[in-house]
Amino acid sequence: MTSPACERNRGPLLDVLLQLLPPQGLALEIACGTGQHAAHFAPALPGWQWQPTDPQPECLRSTAAWCAGLANVRPPLLLDVTSPGWPGVPAQVDALFCANMIHIAPWAACVALMREAGAHLAPGSQLITYGPYFVEGEPPSPGNLAFDADLQRRDPAWGVRQLADVQAEAARHGLRLLRRFDMPAHNLTLAWGR
Ligand SMILES: C[S@@+](CC[C@H](N)C(=O)[O-])C[C@H]1O[C@@H](n2cnc3c(N)ncnc32)[C@H](O)[C@@H]1O
Repeated sequence: MTSPACERNRGPLLDVLLQLLPPQGLALEIACGTGQHAAHFAPALPGWQWQPTDPQPECLRSTAAWCAGLANVRPPLLLDVTSPGWPGVPAQVDALFCANMIHIAPWAACVALMREAGAHLAPGSQLITYGPYFVEGEPPSPGNLAFDADLQRRDPAWGVRQLADVQAEAARHGLRLLRRFDMPAHNLTLAWGR
């Protein structure tokens, strides 16, 4: 599987990860999709072990193919973010990374991401999310409005989220927005922590 969006955003995303992440640790990727992010990031983060996960078996196969031969990418694991306690993944991680899931899944996926991030993040570590958001007081881009309408047409439970709603959910689990990076195409990379 190949995602053209991934091809475009993986470079800017890596630039942000290099600013945010300490030299080493274990990262758990939620919703790894094709695996192109893991394949691009891992060689540039040699002190990190990268653990991709996704609930779709075809995504795990694609990720395994993209990451073949990369010593610091662990075999991808099947994980639905809404599974209570995230069975089968490490109990504590040094970073969580989740790109383009919060808006392409029911709201329950965001709730679960924040709940489990609160439980799985090691002290001082961060959840890093990437995607489009609507931000109170900032005019939405025409592209994000059109994307939101298209998402809701595909599934009424999907949609570009209000950042304030995501922040409120994070706060329920002791997490707050630490840093915001404005990315190409009106996306945001957000770092969350305690
Ligand atoms: C648009 S793709 C993004 C993939 C990749 N992160 C990227 O940025 O290219 C959305 C991903 O969310 C995953 N996803 C949807 N619902 C999920 C859930 N409940 N738990 C974990 N992942 C989920 C899908 O399997 C898919 O891989």
